[in-house]
Amino acid sequence: MTGAEGYDVLVVGGGPVGLSAAWQSRRRGATVLVLEQFGFGNEDCGTSGEERHWRLQYTEKDLCSLTAEALPLWRDLESRTGRKLLHEVGSLWFGDVDVQTNEGQISGTARTMDAASIPYEWLTAAEIERRYGFRDLPRRFEGFLQPDGGAADVRGTLHGLLSLAQDSGCVLRDHEPVLELTPDERAVTVRTAAGTYRAAKVVLTNGPYANQLLAPLGVSLGFDVFEMALVTLRQRDRSATYPFWYVFQEPTDEDTNLFYGFPPNSWAATDEVRVGPVFENNPLPSAADATGTPDRRHVERVCHWVRDHLPLVSPDPVRVATCLAVLPSDPERQFFLGSAEGRFTGGENVVISTGGWGFKFVPLLGEVCAQLCLDGATSYRVDRLAL
Ligand code: BEZ
Repeated sequence: MTGAEGYDVLVVGGGPVGLSAAWQSRRRGATVLVLEQFGFGNEDCGTSGEERHWRLQYTEKDLCSLTAEALPLWRDLESRTGRKLLHEVGSLWFGDVDVQTNEGQISGTARTMDAASIPYEWLTAAEIERRYGFRDLPRRFEGFLQPDGGAADVRGTLHGLLSLAQDSGCVLRDHEPVLELTPDERAVTVRTAAGTYRAAKVVLTNGPYANQLLAPLGVSLGFDVFEMALVTLRQRDRSATYPFWYVFQEPTDEDTNLFYGFPPNSWAATDEVRVGPVFENNPLPSAADATGTPDRRHVERVCHWVRDHLPLVSPDPVRVATCLAVLPSDPERQFFLGSAEGRFTGGENVVISTGGWGFKFVPLLGEVCAQLCLDGATSYRVDRLAL
């Protein structure tokens, strides 16, 4: 096509995975353009909030292997950005150990950790209360502390990747939404309001917006978009330390009854803590329908749980917000990761990474996308996550 700017790799979506894919491609010599429809470094969509759960444990064996493979990539990122990004305050999963959730199952995860020799400590409800300040937990609750998990620093990661992408020579354009993809056997034409580009490979890391570009090509990935509440509370005792926690409970008639919380971030002088529900209720028709205002009942549910069980934290919200969770509709599938080969003409030139709670895999997802673009295959075992 005449007049179109040409690139080896064009990334649609400049969030953490997109920036990681861009930087990894550029450092291997590719010319790279990143198009972001909002601003770079924004905390909308999956990156809402300053922290994310970092964990080694999964119920699924392949994902446990992938977290182990992600760890050295995180360490490399930390040394390149000069900033600690993973904070190992521990990851505490407790509750009804056999309940099946989108996050997995406590008992099944313990078995997977046994098989993978991942260390953890099994704890009763009384031990969890005594050690970490919880109270009035049902006596049947049990769980584990995995000491190497904790929290990932979202802003540090985003800004570090942005600098790496910029300094390595990626072309970064924000406020430029992509309107159309036209793949063919040789490359992909990408149309935006500002112009037309031609790229040998296109990477879609645009979260809930992936289907807007794929639908005209006859493909729709099976995921739902949920607007979940984020609640910031204040810790009463600033000096109290405890791990990231996730409580697994039997679902109620109304919701999945799952809650999580972070301790105050160890990288910020703060007494604020973030808690949230993981309720997969009322999927949005599209990401554009998000309001930014959480469901009041969901905020109340999480605050009541804190009031009843975590006296270290005041249950009065300091502020509330939402995040968009893009979760595969099939609970057996945690992510969409792979090329669109065979799905439409030129599908081999389109690589997709979307869906799931993927922050803990950011450097690995970026590397997989770069490999799929530049080598046509990946050295990581991610076949189960293929489209
Ligand atoms: C996760 O570990 O994947 C996770 C933690 C908290 C909320 C949602 C997901």
